[in-house]
Amino acid sequence: MVKMMATCLEFFRLPPEEKAKLYSDDPSKKIRLSTSFNVKKELVHNWRDYLRLHCYPLEEYVPGWPSNPSSFNLFFLLLLLLPPRREVVSAYCKEVRQLGFRLLGAISQSLGLEEDHIERALGEQEQHMAINYYPKCPEPELTYGLPAHTDPNALTILLQDSDVAGLQVLRDSKWMAVDPKPTALVINIGDQLQVTMDRSHALCCTEALSNGRYNSVCHRAVVNSNKERMSVASFLCPCNNVIISPPKELVSEGAPATYRRYTYDEYYKKFWSRNLDDEHCLELFKREKAF
Ligand code: OGA
Ligand code: NI
Repeated sequence: MVKMMATCLEFFRLPPEEKAKLYSDDPSKKIRLSTSFNVKKELVHNWRDYLRLHCYPLEEYVPGWPSNPSSFNLFFLLLLLLPPRREVVSAYCKEVRQLGFRLLGAISQSLGLEEDHIERALGEQEQHMAINYYPKCPEPELTYGLPAHTDPNALTILLQDSDVAGLQVLRDSKWMAVDPKPTALVINIGDQLQVTMDRSHALCCTEALSNGRYNSVCHRAVVNSNKERMSVASFLCPCNNVIISPPKELVSEGAPATYRRYTYDEYYKKFWSRNLDDEHCLELFKREKAF
């Protein structure tokens, strides 16, 4: 975790002209450096830069990841003493994926289901990573690093800067700081994992039922004027063509499905076509809005 943070910070320390080569505001790009959240769509920007990488399967994406810069000066000579950036990041991605699967197994079991139930329901999961860099901000009360949102995917594993706080979660209508602990990761439940359980059938689904046992967590990142902050969010995402819908057993005339059926691909595109702090993306998939 320490090496991962150091490697990520090293990336953001690169000269702007090196980083600019990776800049894109197109959310469909699988490797890109960008700023705020969705600069093309939003009117008010956030105090954040981020490098977004697709990470699964690793063999497919690692060759395109940023490598150690080849220009030769004292700064880059020092960089050569560090382990290659891609190796550190690949090793981290593999570990995080395994941890994610263990957690999905534990969540399934906590609902009285087979350990691999959720993993099977989500199909071959994609894995994305957002390496967030929040520079010092002269007027932090006027902006956010990231405004309030829930993550659109299934499960997020967040590595936080060990010295600088900034993450907050909404609990009982109050914002609570999640102060960093050097050896801890923060686990966020995303929109697709608002898991619910029907007591009589003990069934679990990846459909978002508002009274679910697990709800996606509303969170935001604030910035400060003294210190830059970094975080690394790893997102486990359902397979793109998986249909997200409640199992038939949970739907009846008296209890119709709250949301229409959709593929994760459709949900994800919708999520990225909007502002981060617009109405909750799931609202747009409610059945009464479907037609
Ligand atoms: C995110 C996120 C929080 C943080 O990247 O989705 O919520 O503390 N990050 O940077
Ligand atoms: Ni988030």
